[in-house]
Amino acid sequence: KVLVTAGPTVEAIDPVRYITNHSSGKMGYEIAKAARIRGAEVTLISGPVSVKPFTGIDVLKVKSAVEMHDAVVQNAAEYDIIIKAAAVADYRPKNIAENKIKKGGAMSVELAENPDILKELGKNKRNAVLAGFCMETENLLKNAEKKLKAKNLDFIVANNLTAEGAGFKTDTNIVTILDKDGNKSVYDIMGKDEVAHIILDKCVKIMNKD
Ligand code: C5P
Repeated sequence: KVLVTAGPTVEAIDPVRYITNHSSGKMGYEIAKAARIRGAEVTLISGPVSVKPFTGIDVLKVKSAVEMHDAVVQNAAEYDIIIKAAAVADYRPKNIAENKIKKGGAMSVELAENPDILKELGKNKRNAVLAGFCMETENLLKNAEKKLKAKNLDFIVANNLTAEGAGFKTDTNIVTILDKDGNKSVYDIMGKDEVAHIILDKCVKIMNKD
């Protein structure tokens, strides 16, 4: 049983505005599809995206990081593999205005920190394989290693947002996988579908080892 999260989260400012990021959801949706093709029971917890899920996948749509947090935490115990490909917003507006905010000079929005879903899963880690993503514009591998440890993951998939052919909107990605045993695998540019299978191969290897 595989749980995948995908897409951005959107954080409301008022009834018409929100804060979000450029995540397309493609990477997570490809992982869910690859797992389904391999015969897994797959649940996809997804922020708002325009990509369509592959047939036979259970999809739970959420909007905010808090909603994603609640959906993941309520369901996590059932899964053998959890892959967090979602680009969760780190912050949300502290207060959501009840009515549309009127313009008039400079304004600011106070932000509150969102729960780190993956860190929480890592703290309560069971026997399930736990994997995360790391997207950076600088010091990619150093940051990836830090997150691997801080979030107590089995492995982390690092991709450099500034590289041509990598990142949010493309159908390709350029990744390096770091695992908790100190192994590092560097991959060339490839389709997100291929990256998805490499990630699942890694999960299977870890399951067979434990
Ligand atoms: O710390 P950072 O946001 O760069 O870590 C990225 C990884 O952590 C991704 O796998 C993402 O899905 C997860 N994450 C999360 N909850 C957050 C922020 C990130 O689960 N609030």
